[in-house]
Amino acid sequence: MARTPGQAARRDPDWEGVRLHVVSGKGGTGKTTVAAALALALAAEGRRTLLIEVEGRQGVAELFGIAALPYEERRIATVTPAQLGLPASGAASRSAGGAAGGSPSGELHALAIDTEQALLEYLDMFYKLGRAGKALQKVGFVDFATTIAPGVRDVLLTGKACEAARRKGPDGRRTYDAVVMDAPPTGRITRFLNVNSEVAGLARIGPIHSQAQAVMRVLKSPETAVHLVTLLEEMPVQETVDGIAELREAGLPVGGVLVNMVRPPLLDAAAVAAVDGDHREEVALALGEAGLGGRSRKPETVRAAVEPLLDPLLAQAREHAERVELERARRADLQHLKLPTYELPLLGEGVDLGTLYRLAGELKRQGAA
Ligand SMILES: Nc1ncnc2c1ncn2[C@@H]1O[C@H](COP(=O)(O)OP(=O)(O)OP(=O)(O)O)[C@@H](O)[C@H]1O
Ligand SMILES: [Mg+2]
Repeated sequence: MARTPGQAARRDPDWEGVRLHVVSGKGGTGKTTVAAALALALAAEGRRTLLIEVEGRQGVAELFGIAALPYEERRIATVTPAQLGLPASGAASRSAGGAAGGSPSGELHALAIDTEQALLEYLDMFYKLGRAGKALQKVGFVDFATTIAPGVRDVLLTGKACEAARRKGPDGRRTYDAVVMDAPPTGRITRFLNVNSEVAGLARIGPIHSQAQAVMRVLKSPETAVHLVTLLEEMPVQETVDGIAELREAGLPVGGVLVNMVRPPLLDAAAVAAVDGDHREEVALALGEAGLGGRSRKPETVRAAVEPLLDPLLAQAREHAERVELERARRADLQHLKLPTYELPLLGEGVDLGTLYRLAGELKRQGAA
C-alpha cells in the first residue's frame, strides 16, 4: 500500500487488537516510566487509555507531577501526535477530546488500586450475584483468603484490570481503547497473572469460580500482551529470558521486550576496533591538531601539553569499547527470543513530563503503539 509522506516515518502498530498491556521487568529498570510512556503512546490519535498502578507507590502521580491518585479512574493527561513529535494522522479511531478531522487529542486516565477498597468492591460484586453468600460459605471465605493469601490481593488487581479492559459504556463502546498495567516485577509476574487459575481450582463452582475463569480467559487471550522492560545488562537480560520462558510455560501471551536506558554509542565500529591496537602516536597527533596542545606550534610544547591527556583518554576509549561489546552480546541474547524489541534512550537529564512524551513518541515510531 502506498504511504503518504506523513506516514513514511511511522510503522504500523505491532499490538493492534491488544487491549491489556501488562508491563513487567526487573526492579528499577523503568517499568513505571515505560508503562506510562506506552499508555501515552497508545492514547495518541484520539484514543483513550487507562494506566493502572498496582504496587501502591504513587509512582504515576509522581511522574506526572500531580497529587496522589485516589482509588478512582481519572484523566491525568491529554496527548496529540504533535506532542509526541509525530505527524498528525488522518484516521483516528475515535475522538476522545479533540476536534474531529484535525489532530484529535487522546486521553490518558490513571488508577492507583487500593487493595482494601478493591476487596470490598469484589465482595460487593459477589453479594450482588445472589447465591454468592452460599458459595462463599461453601468455599469458606477465611480458608479461601488464607490459602491463597497474599494471592487474594493479586486476584483483585488482575480482576480490576480485566474489568477495565472489557468495560463498555451505555453506548456499547469500550470505555478504554487500551489498558496498561504497571505490574509487579518479573520474578512475581507469572504467579501474579496466574493466581486466578489457582482460585478457579479452589472454588470449583459458583461466582468466584466463574469470575476467576473469566479473568484467566482475558489474560490468556490475544487481547493481552505481557511486555518485559530490561536494560542491556547481564542480570536484567537473564531475568527477561527466564521470565519469558516462565510466561510461555504458563500459557500467558508474551508481548515485546522494551530495552530501556540505552546509551548511544560514542565511537563508531572502526574506532571501537581501533582501541585494541597501539594508536598512542596517532591520538597524540590528532589531539595536537585539534588544538588541545594550546596555541604553540612547537611540537615539543604541543606534545608536553597533550601527554597527560593520552592515558586517561585511551583508558576511557577502552572502557567504552568494552561496554559496547557487552551490550552487543546482550542484544544478541535478546534477539534469540525472536520477539518485537524496542529501544528507549537513556535520558541524561532524567525523566520529567516532557521527556516522558519523548519516550512515548519513540515507542510509537518503533511500532510499539
Ligand atoms: N530512559 C530513561 N532515562 C533516564 N532515566 C530513566 C529512564 N527510565 C527510567 N529512568 C529513571 O530510573 C528510575 C527508575 O525508573 P522507574 O521508577 O520507572 O523503574 P521501575 O522499574 O518502575 O522501578 P521499581 O522496580 O522500583 O518499581 C527513575 O528515577 C526514572 O526516572
Ligand atoms: Mg515502578
